[in-house]
Amino acid sequence: MRSLLQATSLALGLWGTSVSAIDVTWTDESSVKEAAGTIAYGLVKYYTGNNTGDVPGNLPDPYYWWEAGAMFGALIDYWWITDDDSYNNITSEAILHQVGEDEDFMPTNQTRTEGNDDQGFWAMAAMAAAERKFPDPPDDEPQWLALAQAVFNEYASRWDTEHCGGGMRWQIFTFNSGFSYKNTISNGCFFNIAARLARYTGNDTYADWATKIWKWESGAGLITDAYKVYDGVTIGDTNCSSIDTAQWSYNAGIFLHGASVMYNLTESSTWKTRMDGMLSEIVTLFVKSDVIFEHFCEQTDQCNQDQQSFKGYLGRWLAATSQMAPYTYETIHPLLVSTAKAAVAVCTGTDSGFKGHAGTACGFSWLTTTYDGLVGVGSQMNALSMVMYTLVKKASTPVTSKTGGTSEGNVDAGNKNSDDVNKHQSKITTADRAGAAILTILICGGVLAGTAFVFS
Ligand SMILES: *[C@@H]1O[C@H](CO)[C@@H](O)[C@H](O)[C@H]1NC(C)=O
Ligand SMILES: *[C@@H]1O[C@H](CO)[C@@H](O)[C@H](O)[C@H]1NC(C)=O
Ligand SMILES: *[C@@H]1O[C@H](CO)[C@@H](O)[C@H](O)[C@H]1NC(C)=O
Ligand SMILES: *[C@@H]1O[C@H](CO)[C@@H](O)[C@H](O)[C@H]1NC(C)=O
Ligand SMILES: *[C@@H]1O[C@H](CO)[C@@H](O)[C@H](O)[C@H]1NC(C)=O
Ligand SMILES: *[C@@H]1O[C@H](CO)[C@@H](O)[C@H](O)[C@H]1NC(C)=O
Repeated sequence: MRSLLQATSLALGLWGTSVSAIDVTWTDESSVKEAAGTIAYGLVKYYTGNNTGDVPGNLPDPYYWWEAGAMFGALIDYWWITDDDSYNNITSEAILHQVGEDEDFMPTNQTRTEGNDDQGFWAMAAMAAAERKFPDPPDDEPQWLALAQAVFNEYASRWDTEHCGGGMRWQIFTFNSGFSYKNTISNGCFFNIAARLARYTGNDTYADWATKIWKWESGAGLITDAYKVYDGVTIGDTNCSSIDTAQWSYNAGIFLHGASVMYNLTESSTWKTRMDGMLSEIVTLFVKSDVIFEHFCEQTDQCNQDQQSFKGYLGRWLAATSQMAPYTYETIHPLLVSTAKAAVAVCTGTDSGFKGHAGTACGFSWLTTTYDGLVGVGSQMNALSMVMYTLVKKASTPVTSKTGGTSEGNVDAGNKNSDDVNKHQSKITTADRAGAAILTILICGGVLAGTAFVFS
């Protein structure tokens, strides 16, 4: 019944004037920007890293380090689309603080929580900064492009042909849970960054890697012939035949976007077929009554903290795809608009943990018009994403080194033995160890957990 009502009101375009705390006129660019500004304000209020004595780049508990990287990526896009630079300073400061001593997003403080995917979300924020001409850091600081290249180089060095014919493991360090798992999001970060570096720099090495990573993902059965994207494969005794078939929106999104970049670069029918296939699977599986949702856990209320943020990244990568392959805009844009309307309709909460404007806390599920009270960085970032990406056509296209990009690269960045276990392990304090052990027990498996260990 509710979905029928929802479909009717969507069809009649009535939602723009519905009663909600954030009133948006979707045909008015400044009204949409204002709504994005309200939601962004509530999002940034969760951040404590610029408080005196706190560490720039970190979100408070219960958010993992990677999600902060994802959040700064979203804030770069927020500036890029809306021109509101209110959060640019905290964003630069956060990213530059978290580069770590080798300038590769491996700060020793995160050794117990950091896997390849965690590193990747920060690297993608740096890549976005280069592509969107986010203000370059001072000369004596690491530069956006070089940071993305550092992570690329380290990923390439972690490619493991000994098991499953290739692919990267989830974890970087043997002592973190999940070392025997090769997951799609880690390899998706590698693929996405490789494709974007190929486009930005024109260097074929990156494009060759993107091709190789896709080939491995499909060969390993993690991207099927029907373009279903599965979560990962365990090395174990089963000789890489034990696949976790959970389908998460961000896994599909990260490969879709990378494929669209490769299509843009090569104009090849192979990449077009892949991109089209993925897009069609995404709009089938992750959309209900014109609204994006987290298929695997949303309707059963089982999405954990990490998973509560995934569909926002799908929005990010759909919007980015519509720029790389403009003909997809006619599929993607209406979906983002109908989803954004549903998202804003539940930005009506006033919760004790929420410090944005009263009555604008965003709920998690958009499948009904009832605010579900699941507030936090994920819900807030998801809603921000859907709202602001409806304006993607107004934003500049990502630059390359030949079309106005100014970020300084370094093809040799990274690779300074930063994987050296001893170096990192010796810096883990006793307190870190105790803290990490508790976390590991609580979430049984580490960052982005749930996926491999709860559901397999
Ligand atoms: C931290 O940044 C936010 C957003 O720019 C700002 O509102 C807040 O005042 C800052 N806090 C401090 C202590 O500088
Ligand atoms: C950002 O930092 C610059 C330089 O310190 C300062 O002039 C500017 O006012 C800051 N902007 C905001 C929004 O805090
Ligand atoms: C690591 O932790 C220390 C102690 O809390 C802090 O001073 C430092 O800024 C942190 N470094 C990073 C990169 O987070
Ligand atoms: C593991 O799988 C590979 C590739 O399918 C195959 O070549 C190899 O023989 C298998 N090894 C075992 C021990 O089953
Ligand atoms: C690649 O992206 C640019 C920028 O959006 C666009 O103008 C161009 O048409 C795209 N190329 C293809 C083959 O779609
Ligand atoms: C292309 O990238 C590879 C991998 O980082 C690097 O080794 C090579 O020097 C680069 N080529 C050029 C011309 O920059």
